[in-house]
Amino acid sequence: MAPAVTMSSGRVFVVLLILLFSFCQSFVEGTKDYKRKLNVTVNPNSTTPPPGGDLLHVQAVGDNDTLHFLFCSQGAPTLLIVHTNSSTSSVQVNWPQFLSRNVSGGLRVEPRSSIQYSMAVVFSRLLEYDDVNDTAKPDSGFFPPYELQNFNWTRFQLFGAVALVCGKTPEFGNGSLCLKLSVFDSDGRAESWPRLLHSPNSSQLEIWLDGITPRAPNSRFLLELQAVGGDFPLSRVDVRQFIDDEFTPSIFKVSEWVSPAAGGSDVLGYVQWKPVAYRQSSPALEDATPCRYSDPQSQDGNATAASSALIRAFFSTHNVTGLNVSFGLAGEPFYNSTKFLSWTMLVGVGAPPVDTFSPVVLTIMAVGLGTPVILLLLGGVFVCLHKMRKSATAAYQPIN
Ligand SMILES: *[C@@H]1O[C@H](CO)[C@@H](O)[C@H](O)[C@H]1NC(C)=O
Ligand SMILES: *[C@@H]1O[C@H](CO)[C@@H](O)[C@H](O)[C@H]1NC(C)=O
Ligand SMILES: *[C@@H]1O[C@H](CO)[C@@H](O)[C@H](O)[C@H]1NC(C)=O
Ligand SMILES: *[C@@H]1O[C@H](CO)[C@@H](O)[C@H](O)[C@H]1NC(C)=O
Ligand SMILES: *[C@@H]1O[C@H](CO)[C@@H](O)[C@H](O)[C@H]1NC(C)=O
Ligand SMILES: *[C@@H]1O[C@H](CO)[C@@H](O)[C@H](O)[C@H]1NC(C)=O
Ligand SMILES: *[C@@H]1O[C@H](CO)[C@@H](O)[C@H](O)[C@H]1NC(C)=O
Ligand SMILES: *[C@@H]1O[C@H](CO)[C@@H](O)[C@H](O)[C@H]1NC(C)=O
Ligand SMILES: *[C@@H]1O[C@H](CO)[C@@H](O)[C@H](O)[C@H]1NC(C)=O
Ligand SMILES: *[C@@H]1O[C@H](CO)[C@@H](O)[C@H](O)[C@H]1NC(C)=O
Ligand SMILES: *[C@@H]1O[C@H](CO)[C@@H](O)[C@H](O)[C@H]1NC(C)=O
Ligand SMILES: *[C@@H]1O[C@H](CO)[C@@H](O)[C@H](O)[C@H]1NC(C)=O
Repeated sequence: MAPAVTMSSGRVFVVLLILLFSFCQSFVEGTKDYKRKLNVTVNPNSTTPPPGGDLLHVQAVGDNDTLHFLFCSQGAPTLLIVHTNSSTSSVQVNWPQFLSRNVSGGLRVEPRSSIQYSMAVVFSRLLEYDDVNDTAKPDSGFFPPYELQNFNWTRFQLFGAVALVCGKTPEFGNGSLCLKLSVFDSDGRAESWPRLLHSPNSSQLEIWLDGITPRAPNSRFLLELQAVGGDFPLSRVDVRQFIDDEFTPSIFKVSEWVSPAAGGSDVLGYVQWKPVAYRQSSPALEDATPCRYSDPQSQDGNATAASSALIRAFFSTHNVTGLNVSFGLAGEPFYNSTKFLSWTMLVGVGAPPVDTFSPVVLTIMAVGLGTPVILLLLGGVFVCLHKMRKSATAAYQPIN
């Protein structure tokens, strides 16, 4: 009788405890829900669509601050985020200067003194190599890189605070490289894998290679990213591990390329991604392919400013760091198995979002952890009973 009571009450207690905990957690998260008001404009103050690419401006106004998201396809595609401590700061574009791309100042955020932090990410190059021996290493070197600044980019297609742009180069055949930027007014999680968690202080960029003609049957690809900042450039990549792959099946890590503030553990800005790409546009688990990255290295700021109108126009002095993300491991299918590859990242200011356990996982853990505890308790009870009976009989035996 007693063990049965211990078992059921013990398990119920653990489950209740966990449910209470997850309830408190969602309650706390619910109350600190932070929202921003979004205002989306394309080519602000320009009477005609400028030749050579569009400029998207998403103004995300908070209680006492504003985030300006600027996304531009004049040259290499670039995302710039400017954080100001005023809810009335604005963006001013001097179009002739912006388009001539020879001086800084074509795009300003006013008042200048309200700027707290700014950072940009430039999609600079696509690299390709022939992986003849399936080692996933560029043993025989790279093909000439695709410079994204030389692509022909489509006009931005807008769906609310989501912008889509695709680029082509003659070698791609009928294929294209596309970028989709999403800006958010509140916390949430994307619908499609890798289902990254996002906040109103972040934006998500999805990039995919659809139907391009590879230059070898065994081609694999790498994407070169450049991060542009002032005193606190994105300088190191942290990897965070977790035990819950509910939202991104089979992936237990997240990588964060961060800009640490001077001497502190605070993060001012980040690029965050899960080390996975997908070989189908609506992927199943077997279409997932791992990604790796190279260590961030300091790069020539002048070359970056020359490649991107937005960098030239906004920054006067800046630091640039770059890294490569490579897709696929040895033994994995090559690009032309599906002729599709997509990868997703989050870019934002402040601390990157951290996944917490979902109630489903908490319940599973409660059952999983509860059962061994019950078994231990039961075992203890049986050992005690056995010992008691043994010592009761042993009392009459002679001691050796
Ligand atoms: C959105 O921004 C544009 C200029 O960038 C401005 O003219 C317009 O009034 C703003 N709309 C709202 C609703 O704030
Ligand atoms: C915004 O500023 C006002 C006045 O300066 C202050 O009362 C309020 O607490 C601030 N709100 C936030 C969210 O910081
Ligand atoms: C557009 O022009 C108006 C008036 O010249 C100015 O107030 C506003 O800040 C400009 N907006 C941008 C985005 O340049
Ligand atoms: C920048 O280019 C414009 C026209 O392309 C030219 O008028 C201007 O003098 C140039 N400025 C500098 C500093 O080179
Ligand atoms: C915004 O920050 C600047 C310094 O970067 C400071 O001088 C100014 O007082 C701040 N403004 C507000 C409204 O907090
Ligand atoms: C591929 O493997 C073959 C045989 O092992 C070797 O001769 C060749 O050099 C390798 N190619 C590359 C690019 O490493
Ligand atoms: C861009 O398009 C123009 C005309 O459509 C074409 O002449 C040019 O070759 C294209 N350039 C690239 C890099 O695709
Ligand atoms: C591109 O598309 C056209 C028409 O759809 C087709 O005729 C052509 O073969 C395609 N080219 C490649 C390289 O797939
Ligand atoms: C977003 O930024 C605002 C203002 O800096 C801050 O109060 C808020 O906590 C941030 N939200 C998240 C999820 O980081
Ligand atoms: C890969 O490309 C080569 C030619 O480039 C072609 O012969 C082969 O059939 C392709 N493989 C697949 C799976 O499409
Ligand atoms: C670039 O970073 C170094 C330190 O990492 C800093 O001393 C320098 O001021 C930065 N340059 C600019 C233009 O901010
Ligand atoms: C970048 O340009 C500046 C001014 O034009 C020059 O002083 C500097 O040496 C250049 N840096 C590099 C790495 O070329």
